[in-house]
Amino acid sequence: MKIISAPDYQSMSRKAANIISAQVILFPDSVLGLATGSTPVGVYKQLINWFEKGDIDFSRIHSVNLDEYCGLPVEHEQSYRYYMDHNFFNHVNVPKANTNVPNGLAKDFDAECRRYDKVIAQLGGIDLQLLGIGHTGHIGFNEPDEDFDKTTHCVKLKQQTIEANSRFFANEDEVPKYALTMGIKAIMQAKKLLLIANGADKAEILYRSLFGPITPSVPASILQLHNDVTIVADEEALSVIREKCPEAIG
Ligand code: F6R
Repeated sequence: MKIISAPDYQSMSRKAANIISAQVILFPDSVLGLATGSTPVGVYKQLINWFEKGDIDFSRIHSVNLDEYCGLPVEHEQSYRYYMDHNFFNHVNVPKANTNVPNGLAKDFDAECRRYDKVIAQLGGIDLQLLGIGHTGHIGFNEPDEDFDKTTHCVKLKQQTIEANSRFFANEDEVPKYALTMGIKAIMQAKKLLLIANGADKAEILYRSLFGPITPSVPASILQLHNDVTIVADEEALSVIREKCPEAIG
């Protein structure tokens, strides 16, 4: 596990974008696992900027996103397909057909989850998976106390997650209560993991995830068992780690 510190959000975004960029330059056919939420917005902005300057070519990559809300049409501004199109895909040269987000409007969620697992398998797995972390320690929408060996599945979101995500909606009632998420199993099978975090509100959960016991009650704690995981976080998010185990920060 490598922990890289950044002074602020912009620097965190740039360092993480550098890692993704290196992956795409070295391996133009990479399968990128992508995340949504507020944390990666700056990473996508930076990648778009380098694309516009001619530094990166996304034409041969494929992508699989971690998750999608159930019940939101793709035109809904808070659907993760909308987010990905507007924050990234529409601004670079990845063919839309190469991009995958679970279908939150599927009639049969189980069948959709099996289809999504097949998509990941047919692509040969994920080369680099970008992750954010929720206040519950969730990665993707794998909420606490779920089995670590799940593949793509439908989850009931925890109240804490609904509250955290209500900032994107008019009110809490509008936040979908269910989501489809890639399972911990597929995430752990990715060749490389890149977790990004910023802000003081992530400091405690980041510490517990990376240095606490490995337990389903803190889903991100499983990352301790991955053999190629890089964390890029700003100093606020690293404040508890900085205090309790400063030697771990590279
Ligand atoms: C999003 C996702 C979630 C977020 C997490 C943090 O695709 O999988 O796990 O990464 O909820 O969200 P933000 O970045 O908004 O704090």
